[in-house]
Amino acid sequence: MSPPRLTVDEVTVAFSGLLALDAVSFTVEPGTVHAVIGPNGAGKSSLLNALCGIYPVTGGRILLDEHEVTRLRPDRVAALGVGRTFQNIVVSPQESVLDNLMVGRHRLTRAGLVTTALWLGRREQRRHEARAREIAEFVGLSARLDTTAGRLPFGDLKRLEFARALCLEPRLLILDEPVAGLNTTESRELGQLVLAARRALDLTVVFVEHDMGVVMSIADRITVLDFGKVVAEGAPAEVRRDPTVVSAYLGAPEEPRTGREAERTPQ
Ligand SMILES: Nc1ncnc2c1ncn2[C@@H]1O[C@H](COP(=O)(O)OP(=O)(O)O)[C@@H](O)[C@H]1O
Ligand SMILES: [Mg+2]
Repeated sequence: MSPPRLTVDEVTVAFSGLLALDAVSFTVEPGTVHAVIGPNGAGKSSLLNALCGIYPVTGGRILLDEHEVTRLRPDRVAALGVGRTFQNIVVSPQESVLDNLMVGRHRLTRAGLVTTALWLGRREQRRHEARAREIAEFVGLSARLDTTAGRLPFGDLKRLEFARALCLEPRLLILDEPVAGLNTTESRELGQLVLAARRALDLTVVFVEHDMGVVMSIADRITVLDFGKVVAEGAPAEVRRDPTVVSAYLGAPEEPRTGREAERTPQ
């Protein structure tokens, strides 16, 4: 199946008077990688949550190709092929890497609502497990399949999150700060992995990221948000030169960063 076009049309998200998103519009062309940047509190995570059906949209429309997904529940949006990762890591620390990946395959199970692989028929389970192993190989986690997720180094944890989103077999992949907390080398590698996944799996990708090195090197287009509004949009080279971006983005204080150890799941 070919990758979808994402259309965000005048989308507004309001929280008791506060406009987290104010008539935000942009289009993500099929098979492209689209970055959303902006200062802390600009509405980036709210936008991703709106795209997945987690936050209620108070105005406007979201379309996946010609299908409107604006008011669908998160599980319905996921069933249409939208996979995502979260800003804060949400893997289960007590479970193995393989089990965490199997959780990612839930929506693909026959019943669609089974909560554990143990409930699957043995043949179906074997098929899902084989695919989970392939995806682990793709992200470089083959050797860690039996490791308890809570014991993984932070870099592997970020890969696991990414791999788990891929396990949904998404057509639209949404990533919230995929390289946050990684060092330069790890960030570059994960960025390249996003591009490799896009090619190998025919994905459309939307991601939020503060690491401008990664944004500029992997994004086809960039939308810049500030105070819930789109303040700029364009190819990386254009956005980098845009004076509005420089003042909105570079003028803001740095997003507070928790250290690698602090972000690590307790063992
Ligand atoms: N669930 C929520 N309830 C109330 N306000 C929220 C909620 N989520 C986000 N906001 C507010 O919306 C604005 C945008 O937040 P967010 O989307 O998290 O920004 P970003 O991800 O760009 O840092 C902020 O003012 C934030 O406080
Ligand atoms: Mg955020």
